[in-house]
Amino acid sequence: MTSSISLATEIAGNKLASCLYNASGPLCSTTDELNAIGESAAGAILSKSATLEKREGNPSPRYVETSWGSINSMGLPNEGYEFYAAYSKHSANYNKPYFMSVSGLSHADNLLIIQYLADFTNIAGIELNLSCPNVPGKPQTGYDFEETHRLLDMVFAQSKLKIGVKLPPYFDIPHFEMMAGVLNKFPIAFVTCINSVGNGLVIDTHSETTVIKPKNGFGGIGGDFVKPTALANVRKFYTLLDKNVAIIGCGGVKNGMDAFEHILCGASAVQVGTCFMREGPSCFARIEQELKDIMQQKGYSTIADFKGKLRTCS
Ligand code: SIN
Repeated sequence: MTSSISLATEIAGNKLASCLYNASGPLCSTTDELNAIGESAAGAILSKSATLEKREGNPSPRYVETSWGSINSMGLPNEGYEFYAAYSKHSANYNKPYFMSVSGLSHADNLLIIQYLADFTNIAGIELNLSCPNVPGKPQTGYDFEETHRLLDMVFAQSKLKIGVKLPPYFDIPHFEMMAGVLNKFPIAFVTCINSVGNGLVIDTHSETTVIKPKNGFGGIGGDFVKPTALANVRKFYTLLDKNVAIIGCGGVKNGMDAFEHILCGASAVQVGTCFMREGPSCFARIEQELKDIMQQKGYSTIADFKGKLRTCS
């Protein structure tokens, strides 16, 4: 029996009955999609990244599944920030926190949105997206350490809500240290590692074309392929950031063991992207049960029993 096993966690001062919820991206743009997450076993609801204006996003085909995951260049299609702010009132129907992802196309846009959100008391926290690789002409802020510092200076001067950031993947130890050095200067509530691995290329050899259209086929890679990179980012930021910053793991989670690995590396919660897109909201209950089964086999009753306790092999 796994009924005595708890997946409860806390993010930005909010209690989540389950540490599993959706990544911002797939199936979290419309009221129906957000409601479906609310009705599922997910521990929280996270919105699609909101921009100032409603956006159609990039031309299709812009999301393709592969045997190992996915490539996307969605280009932030979303209803605009006012829609996702208004949804926060409706989210109160579900007994779980509602987080809003914000991805302004400029610092000024981010500041305006964050100022506006200050009075929305049903928003549990803002996930500031510093890492979308899919808007033509817009670099990923998270790869520019000085620019990230400038933006966070402005954001924390204004925000009344709890703020976390969604980071791109890093691949070099000095880059982890530089970003952690910036983040440790601010009262960041949580850090989500990782967004998709930006600007990969998937080819259809039969037609000798790219499989997606935007940016001549370049897009963010998700799914199985990115899990080792996601785990490395979770682990590094868990060891480098102040201990009161929750790490949220995202990347390559399609079963209970993947979630277990993220938590072992230091994640307080785990988001599901490509698998949620493929399977829909029922994936949360399935992965939760698989995680509980693993915890039972290992004799763990809460995620605190193994969170961050990865050891180096001898
Ligand atoms: C997109 O809409 O292009 C994906 C969102 C992201 O990668 O941040």
